[in-house]
Amino acid sequence: MTSSGRDRTKNARLLAWVDEMETLCQPKDVYWCDGSQAEYDRLCEEMVEAGTLIRLNEKKRPNSFLARSHPSDVARVEDRTFICTKTPEEAGPTNNWTNPTEMKKSLRGMFNGSMKGRTMYVVPFSMGPLGSPIAHIGVQISDSPYVVVNQRIMTRMGQPVLDVLGADGNFVPCMHSIGAPLAEGQADVPWPCEPDPENKYIVHFPEERAIWSYGSGYGGNALLGKKCLALRIASAMAHDEGWLAEHMLIVGLENPQGEKTYVAAAFPSACGKTNLAMLIPPGGFEGWKVWTVGDDIAWIKPGDDGKLYAINPEAGFFGVAPGTSSKSNPNAMRTLTANSIFTNVALTDDGDIWWEGMDGEPPAHAIDWQGNDWTPASDKPAAHPNARFTAPAEQCPSIDPAWEDPKGVPISAFIFGGRLSRTFPLVFQAFNWEHGVYLAATMGSEATAAALGQAAIRRDPMAMLPFCGYNMGEYWNHWLNFGAKLEDSPPIFRVNWFRKDADGKFMWPGFGENMRVLQWIVDRIKDRGHGVKSPFGWMPRYEDLNWTGLDYGKALFNDLMEIDRGAALSEAETQTDHFKPFGNRLPKEMEQQRQELIARLERAPEVWSMRD
Ligand code: GTP
Ligand code: SPV
Ligand code: MN
Repeated sequence: MTSSGRDRTKNARLLAWVDEMETLCQPKDVYWCDGSQAEYDRLCEEMVEAGTLIRLNEKKRPNSFLARSHPSDVARVEDRTFICTKTPEEAGPTNNWTNPTEMKKSLRGMFNGSMKGRTMYVVPFSMGPLGSPIAHIGVQISDSPYVVVNQRIMTRMGQPVLDVLGADGNFVPCMHSIGAPLAEGQADVPWPCEPDPENKYIVHFPEERAIWSYGSGYGGNALLGKKCLALRIASAMAHDEGWLAEHMLIVGLENPQGEKTYVAAAFPSACGKTNLAMLIPPGGFEGWKVWTVGDDIAWIKPGDDGKLYAINPEAGFFGVAPGTSSKSNPNAMRTLTANSIFTNVALTDDGDIWWEGMDGEPPAHAIDWQGNDWTPASDKPAAHPNARFTAPAEQCPSIDPAWEDPKGVPISAFIFGGRLSRTFPLVFQAFNWEHGVYLAATMGSEATAAALGQAAIRRDPMAMLPFCGYNMGEYWNHWLNFGAKLEDSPPIFRVNWFRKDADGKFMWPGFGENMRVLQWIVDRIKDRGHGVKSPFGWMPRYEDLNWTGLDYGKALFNDLMEIDRGAALSEAETQTDHFKPFGNRLPKEMEQQRQELIARLERAPEVWSMRD
């Protein structure tokens, strides 16, 4: 299998880097991926033989596989994620910083011999449509065939990328090892990795535009095009070059007249991006259609016409499985009918998959994500809460015809939303760009899989807390400057699908019903929608939303929209703790906006409400 790669590319920098890494990692052989279906099929078959993949029932789930990870390797590891800029200040108070020279030294130690007994795969990939002026090329070196096949779904991968790269093209080197060398004669395991969490390292060198990831084979730790390149490294590029790399879905909202309005929305991990990206309008929205461009990442650049254009740099979905059903996300379910990889879900007795929250009755018996017998009486979930599917975007029934347009789609608004059970209403619109940046920068959300063990509510500015490759204070500044330069900056909205009542029940039905909020947002973009001024921003009245097909009373809506002055003031108070660590990197506009919010609240009644 060994190939020098010289027959595949003339890119001297790439060839030299691969040679150097081969010498360092000492794999048994090197394989340059061509990205073909035959190669994908062969790698999957090899993994079936090795026990890494289980082939699912061909009739029920053609060309699809199940993988079970090691129990230590089930989500991104934020506390093992590092940003190595020259100074700690450049990484900022929200990132783990380490001196780049020292980190490189220890990485070289870790990678030394780390691929013994394994194949080193060279995986050229493009984030964004191949050859698009907005796209960027990465080359991942990995000793995990699971990563290779996932990368083939998640990115444009293989020989065509090397052809576009050419002899002098630039690429981001993405070095990855699962950190599990095999000694002579040592038997392999289904999911090799470095089991000690303390020995996993997800490392970024934003100045050098390089990534080194060690010890994990899971998700964003290992599919290096996604969070590492398309967000952490790209955010640093975007800062330097005047664009945005964001943790956002992109959707096109088409009204019955055929007018399409594209919006981009940021929600923290596992807070509903995939759901919103694939939304099907409910009854009462006949003639409306929601088109999917992306479900996780958006790269946004100002066009020559003064508008903003966004692309989805990915080619697939790596979505949260539990909770996905024909009811909550029918388009996702249809996307997953074939050619998909499922990780850490349950296996049914007929060779299909299952997870908590899927349609119908739970199976009477299944094999859980750790390979043990499971029944509905078991006290543990059958699927891991962060179990995921990897599926080609082109299989999504709602995929937008323009999703691969190299110039991107025009963005008319930004939406930000966290998972907040208290204090925050369903929707409000910022008074202006600056206020919107403040609303995004102070967004909080209740903890999910990748951030377990942290405080119940954490600030997650722009849903980018784990993904900003430089000082977050400077990132806010970049957002402020970016908007100030636009002729017509798009409106910014905050939404919250997750408000709960005193009994702990969600007050808003969510999912498809979120269309009602999206329609108001489109109305506001088109200057048709009515809004009232609240201390938080512009808000719809009950009569400003379309309620056809949903029985949702005015009194309940007014409860959902009310602002408790005491709660809002103490929220504004805790923002000082959020801002403090940024010191002089905090844009002055942030504190100004906070003061203005406090002033508005102090003028407001104890409970601000739209009740007559
Ligand atoms: P990452 O892929 O981790 O970036 O996350 P994501 O934002 O794409 O998450 P996803 O769409 O998979 O969100 C999954 C979770 O959000 C599940 O627990 C869903 O039940 C929940 N969810 C999505 N939309 C809604 C909604 O409108 N209301 C409520 N209550 N829950 C929702
Ligand atoms: C997220 O955690 O925001 C994800 C999943 O989208 S992962 O790719 O694993 O980071
Ligand atoms: Mn994400």
